[in-house]
Amino acid sequence: MSHQKSTLGEFIIKNQASFPYSSGELSSLLNALRLAAKVVNHEVNKAGLVDLFGDSGDVNVQGEHQQKLDVFANKTFIQSLKNRNIVCGIVSEENDDFITIEGRDKESNGKYVVLMDPLDGSSNIDVNVSVGTIFSIYRRLTPQGTPVEEKDFLQPGRKQVAAGYIVYGTSTMLVYTTGDGVNGFTLNPAIGSFYLSHPDMKFPENGSIYSVNQGNYSHFPESVKQYIKYCQQIEDDRPYSQRYIGSLVSDFHRNMIKGGIYLYPNSTVNTDGKLRLLYECNPMAFLTEQANGIATDGKQSILDIIPTHIHERAPFYCGSRSMIKKLLEFIRQ
Ligand code: AHG
Ligand code: MN
Ligand code: MN
Ligand code: MN
Repeated sequence: MSHQKSTLGEFIIKNQASFPYSSGELSSLLNALRLAAKVVNHEVNKAGLVDLFGDSGDVNVQGEHQQKLDVFANKTFIQSLKNRNIVCGIVSEENDDFITIEGRDKESNGKYVVLMDPLDGSSNIDVNVSVGTIFSIYRRLTPQGTPVEEKDFLQPGRKQVAAGYIVYGTSTMLVYTTGDGVNGFTLNPAIGSFYLSHPDMKFPENGSIYSVNQGNYSHFPESVKQYIKYCQQIEDDRPYSQRYIGSLVSDFHRNMIKGGIYLYPNSTVNTDGKLRLLYECNPMAFLTEQANGIATDGKQSILDIIPTHIHERAPFYCGSRSMIKKLLEFIRQ
């Protein structure tokens, strides 16, 4: 990789001036995430060698079996965020309740809250398929110097100040937005630095990939079934290719680069869908809108949903504009 490309560290500093109310703290927060990403990447890469595959023996608040790497990634990101006096609270998929971070003077001094899915796609770890991390950042609502409260986390996605993901894939990438477009950085493992490899990422206006767990077809709403049939029809540029990895991060990353639509509908089994609004749907929706795509629950933009619970779920459809518009025609019929 070219050494002329800007590193993530340089990019964060360079763009600091464009953050509203910039004081360098958001930059420092992003740097904490960057550091944790490198540590988790190192562990993911040697998981088969150091007994990090498999079940940890615990079950999380969603009733899922936690994998050892879920636990490792969770601890690593939390520790990295705690080490700086910037974040007053964290919501994680792997913790039942929100975590309060006390400031150095034993008060919650931090200005920001972070919501995260420390390891996304963890059912794929044991078989060497790409996994990821998703993060979402807000300014707190309650005053600095007071303990963080649940309402600090229950803000609509529209209020995010930054969001992004890391994909631990054939190469490891960190992709993020601060509301000024989406940029992707690839880790050079020999040097240990992320380099700007994908500036100003955009969903193509149209695409030919649809991503859905079609095994659940019988449980889907009629409108989604009809849309899937439409994707399969021999007409114009169809049938589309069906591609589904089962890691939201990886499925999203492919669709943003190639053009496509991702669907995780509500169903007769999961009446609110499966994906978690605050640390899966919202950050991906912020990235989607910043990359010229659309993210919706079928009724409204994901970013306009008012959350009521830190682990709540939402139906999730996101991707290339013209594909989502077509899906919405089926839903609104
Ligand atoms: P996680 O591994 O963080 O619990 O997330 C799993 C999510 C998401 O990554 C993925 O797209 C989806 O669940 C897959 O669900 P199905 O196996 O039901 O298709
Ligand atoms: Mn999980
Ligand atoms: Mn996930
Ligand atoms: Mn997860």
